[in-house]
Amino acid sequence: MNKQIVDVNCTEWIASPAQDKWVTDLEAGKVLHFTSLEFPVSAFESSFFTPDIRNPKSRNISLDDAGNLKGATANQQVQTGLRAMMTRFRAQSQMLVDSHFPCYKDHLRLGPTSFRPNRIETRNQSWRADDRRLHVDAFPTRPTYGERILRVFINVNPNNVPRVWRIGEPFEAVVDRFLDNTAPYSAWRAKTLNLFGITKSLRSEYDHLMLQLHDAMKQDLNYQRNCPQLTMPFPPGSVWVCFSDQASHAAMSGQYMMEQTFHLPVSNQYDTNSSPLAILKRHIGRELI
Ligand code: SIN
Ligand code: FE
Repeated sequence: MNKQIVDVNCTEWIASPAQDKWVTDLEAGKVLHFTSLEFPVSAFESSFFTPDIRNPKSRNISLDDAGNLKGATANQQVQTGLRAMMTRFRAQSQMLVDSHFPCYKDHLRLGPTSFRPNRIETRNQSWRADDRRLHVDAFPTRPTYGERILRVFINVNPNNVPRVWRIGEPFEAVVDRFLDNTAPYSAWRAKTLNLFGITKSLRSEYDHLMLQLHDAMKQDLNYQRNCPQLTMPFPPGSVWVCFSDQASHAAMSGQYMMEQTFHLPVSNQYDTNSSPLAILKRHIGRELI
């Protein structure tokens, strides 16, 4: 298996100049690991590193694209501080992606920022929601029509605990392994899901296939154990970036992470042929959206 993680040793969030290799690796579904970036946290911000800061009814604390903070229980002063810390990470992430992948500049749509203060190991979830199983990201309620999901992660653990990921095989191999077992797309079912408001728009055949792959991977325990994979403990301070709809990943352990989502129209990729949409289209032999 090609190495699915690539180290980038930049010491600044802004790259000058950018290397073409970074975008090629990213679009090949690799995880770019920035080993030497700094994200200083103030003494006040250190007090946010407790699971009690999250509203137990929400999975994560999130900052939406309009700047609204959701999912925190804390008092007003702490909420203001949390918003400032997450906004700072958002701005740093934006600089990182704009300068390392300049061909995406002006085409990325900002998604939410999340702060995840819970310990992964103690989460109790259904197999489908369990991100300790290798998967590619696919949204059951929000069809993407092939738009890419680009994510920037940072381990902000103050106690020297790594965030341990497993990274699986390339997307093509996932498709080769599971596509033949996917349920056929039903336009009628997609219409029904949309009519009842279960999906926010009509689920395309592409979105259906991505969900099928997500589920098939997570459901297959033999695959989870035995497929080509590597375990990567991202130490505190690490930043890593990937197209999470393409890079097979699982988060096994760790606590305190921030993540920034960006969306990229598939037409604005450097090489549109490397997208999950293009790969699936080649396998199936027809349009999927
Ligand atoms: C995921 O995106 O599947 C989980 C990432 C994480 O919590 O580290
Ligand atoms: Fe995921």
